[in-house]
Amino acid sequence: MQREIKLTDDGSYTVAIPQMNITYHSIRGALQESLHIYVVSGFQYALPNITNETISIFEVGFGTGLNALLTLQEAIKLKRKVYYHAVELFPLTMDEAMALHQDEQLGTGNLSIQLHEGVWEEDVVINEYFTLHKTKKSLLDLSLNNQFDIIYFDAFAPTNQPELWTEAVFANLYAHLNPHGVLVTYSSNGSVRRAMKAAGFTVEKIPGPIGKAEIVRATRP
Ligand SMILES: C[S@@+](CC[C@H](N)C(=O)[O-])C[C@H]1O[C@@H](n2cnc3c(N)ncnc32)[C@H](O)[C@@H]1O
Repeated sequence: MQREIKLTDDGSYTVAIPQMNITYHSIRGALQESLHIYVVSGFQYALPNITNETISIFEVGFGTGLNALLTLQEAIKLKRKVYYHAVELFPLTMDEAMALHQDEQLGTGNLSIQLHEGVWEEDVVINEYFTLHKTKKSLLDLSLNNQFDIIYFDAFAPTNQPELWTEAVFANLYAHLNPHGVLVTYSSNGSVRRAMKAAGFTVEKIPGPIGKAEIVRATRP
């Protein structure tokens, strides 16, 4: 399927798949959306309850790597160690990754390129605060071995991929989340919240980024 690089309203870039009417982020601003949903409502929110020296994060859909890059930036700022495991079935090419101009826009040197160039299926130490492990397969075929503190659930929308937003998938993620762990996602769809609740999560709707009234934060009690 043809992918295109698309400029969003806050000046940051995302990826679009026109035939499927999909954009990887909100066209109202990829950067503001990622920051609000994943860094502020997920990472920053969960931090006070995390006692482990290294914070473990699992991301569904590495895509443009923007969530990983913003989390890396935050980890450096807070001087907290992060282990970041991302699953991605359709990785971007290096040409696509470079066309996003993330490092220029965020002033991150060549960190975005390092995240994209990093080998798959291995732990890649990016710096003293961030280790990345990328797995190239479907979430549905992945067996997780680790426990995580935070999950960024950033798959394509439930209308595009209903098979990823099920009670069975959320139950598996719940089992790999530490107590007080947090899952954040952009979809506040009723059926998604019901599937999360059935899997055991405590689910709350919270204010979304510009262009989206509500998002969801699900917590393992
Ligand atoms: C909404 S995009 C978000 C990507 C990313 N978090 C970002 O900030 O760019 C969804 C991502 O999920 C990936 N994806 C789609 N189906 C998948 C699957 N079954 N397993 C893992 N990743 C999948 C897509 O290729 C895409 O990169």
